[in-house]
Parts: sequence; C-alpha cells; structure tokens
Amino acid sequence: MQKRYGRITGWGAYTPSKVVTNHDLEQALDTSHEWIVQRTGICARHVAAPGETTATMSTEAGRRALAKADLDAADLDLIIVATSTPDHLTPPVSSQVQHALGAANVPAFVLVTGCTGFMYALATAQQFIAGGMYQRILIIGAELLSRHIDWTDRATCVLFGDAAGAVVMEATAVPCGVFGFDLGSDGSGAAHIIAPAAGTAEPVSATTFAEGRQFIRMNGREVFKFATRVIGRSCQASLTQAELSLDEVDWIIPHQANLRIIQSAAKSMKVPLDRFYINLEKYANTSAASIPLALCEGLDSGVIQPTDTLLLVSFGAGLTWASAVLQMEPVAAKLMSRLTAVNGVNGQYKNGVKTAVPL
Ligand code: UT7
Repeated sequence: MQKRYGRITGWGAYTPSKVVTNHDLEQALDTSHEWIVQRTGICARHVAAPGETTATMSTEAGRRALAKADLDAADLDLIIVATSTPDHLTPPVSSQVQHALGAANVPAFVLVTGCTGFMYALATAQQFIAGGMYQRILIIGAELLSRHIDWTDRATCVLFGDAAGAVVMEATAVPCGVFGFDLGSDGSGAAHIIAPAAGTAEPVSATTFAEGRQFIRMNGREVFKFATRVIGRSCQASLTQAELSLDEVDWIIPHQANLRIIQSAAKSMKVPLDRFYINLEKYANTSAASIPLALCEGLDSGVIQPTDTLLLVSFGAGLTWASAVLQMEPVAAKLMSRLTAVNGVNGQYKNGVKTAVPL
C-alpha cells in the first residue's frame, strides 16, 4: 500500500464570550492579580455561559475547522472528541457533536487523557489514516472546567478556563503531518490531579457533596515538578522519531498551564523562550483545548505559518504526557518556501499550498 500521511487542512477554535479577569477574582477570593501573574502568567480566562456546554463549544470549533478545510460534516469518516468534561456520563459527548454537526452515521468517540487528550487524539487519527482505514478525521479538544472547580478554592479556580479547538486531518500521499510522536502515562501520580467523587469510586452522596469532593483537586507543586521533568524528555523522543533536531523546529507549542513551567522547559532544553508559542495569559489552562487553541490562534494571526515545523508538547492528569512533531504543509512546500526566501521570491497561498510567484 502507498504510504499515507495525515495533512491538517482545517482548524478552528471557540472560546465563550464571558471573560473573568484576575481582578474579578480578587473581589471574591483571598488572591491578587500580582500573585496569579507572578506564579502562573495568567491574567484572564473565558468562562462558559449557562446553556453553553462541552458539546456546543466542540460543535462550534468543529464547524469552523470544517469550513476552513472546505468540507461538509457528512464528508467525515471519524470524529474524535478529547475531553474530561463531557456534558453527561452517558451518552458520549462525541455523538452529541456528531449529530449537531450533521455528520449522519459518522463514527465518533471520546478520548479521555486529561490535558493531553488532544495530543493522544492527534496521534490516534494519524494512525487511522496511515493504516488506510479513514480519509478525513475531525479532531476536537474541548474542556469546560469552570463547572468542575470549586470557585472558593484559590489554589485551583484561578488556573482554568473553558474552550474548544479543532483540526481536520485528511489523507494524502505527500509527506506531511505528524512525523513523530511520544505518548506516556504514569498512574502512580494519579492523586496529584483528581476529582475524587466525580466517578464510580466515590458515588455522589450528601457527604461527598458537602465536602466538595466532586471538584478537581490538585497538588500543584508535584504537577509542576512532573511537567518540568517530562517536557524536554518527551520532545526529544518525538524529534528522534521524526529524525529532526530542535534547531529545525520553528515553534514549540506547549500545553498552556503555567508560564514558569514553560520558562523552565525552555531553559533545560536550551531554547529561547520566544520560540515557544504562549497565549495562556488570555485563556488560562484550558486542558485538552489548550494546544489546538494556541495552534489556531497562531495560524489565524499569521504568527505561525502553515509551512512551519511545529513541536507540540503536553502534560497533565493521569499523570500523562504527549508530544508530536507536526509539519502541516507538505515538506516540499516548506523547502520551496525556504528556497523562495533565499532567492528573493515571494510566496503565496492557494488552497493552503504555498506557491512561488516572481517579485
Ligand atoms: O494541566 C496540568 C495541570 N496543572 C498544572 O500545570 C499546575 C502546575 N502547578 C502550578 O502551576 C503551581 O504549582 C501553582 C500555580 C498551582 C501554585 O504555585 P506554587 O508556586 O507551587 O505555589 P504553592 O502551591 O506552593 O503555594 C504558595 C503559597 C501558599 O501559601 P503558604 O502556604 O505559603 O502560606 C498558598 O496557599 O501561595 C498560596 N496560594 C495563593 N495565594 C494567593 C495558592 N493559591 C493562591 C492564590 N492566590 N490563588
């Protein structure tokens, strides 16, 4: 069988319109804008309005990604929704999204690995395409954490935001897409990010409810140490698989949890901080949505070019980690854009492909 690659042909994100700033939180909590910025880099977060759910946010992000890819929902072969905050325990939120998009009978499933969910979904989609099973896959990372945090717990509620981000991956014979990935899990750290009574282990009761055990609790310091340990290691594993060096990467898109974690990773990887794409100041930690949200923002603003070589890296509940080397445009387009830069020829995009035009 001819080798098949998964090309990202569309992307789209959704954030709720309501913004809660650190100053807003100061009014209700024993915290300060200065503490939050100094310890995390976060200034604001978007919070879903009543009526907005993980399904509605996912559907909107999915619609936008499909429009960019110029595809109808009915053209899809698979939908993956990465989230830890589905609308209901059952039905799977992926089927709600599939129905709302109008993707009649298209298979859909939920993938739950905490903040790394989108990355696990990206790797899964790439394997379905490489194996020849599917041609067009919608991958969504979505999280509505504002309904799973205790708004009186300053150690967690200042950290999270709501959002959804999506990409469309399509099969092609031209080399591009995910060239290497690394996935990992260490369940010995499970207790470091946990909602103790939000599953079968502790059925909801008056006691669990009174103690707020349905909310997410986090041992921030342990997660911090874990993140700084795994980011560099995982990035190196993906780069090795892709047969690339860090110098060949244009942008590192890290999970947007904490600026200090990113600074520490930059230092240990010996990469200047300005090669990390960072937008956590506006959105806080949106868990499984954080990487697609950053990717979409970077592409839409033109800061990230589709010809750029990207290194995506995430970590979170489980504990889990994941990274991937992503080349959205076919490698030939990247080489051509480098050549045109050298030869003083402008590039222009047609149907997402960079073509050279004389000056
Ligand atoms: O997606 C993956 C999920 N999670 C993460 O990536 C989180 C990783 N960890 C972190 O980002 C950091 O550990 C935090 C931002 C959560 C906390 O920063 P820290 O520097 O590790 O602070 P800390 O937990 O050691 O707390 C220091 C102090 C404590 O006071 P005492 O005991 O020293 O008097 C806290 O009670 O800061 C206090 N504190 C706060 N003060 C003002 C904790 N939260 C707040 C707050 N405002 N919001």
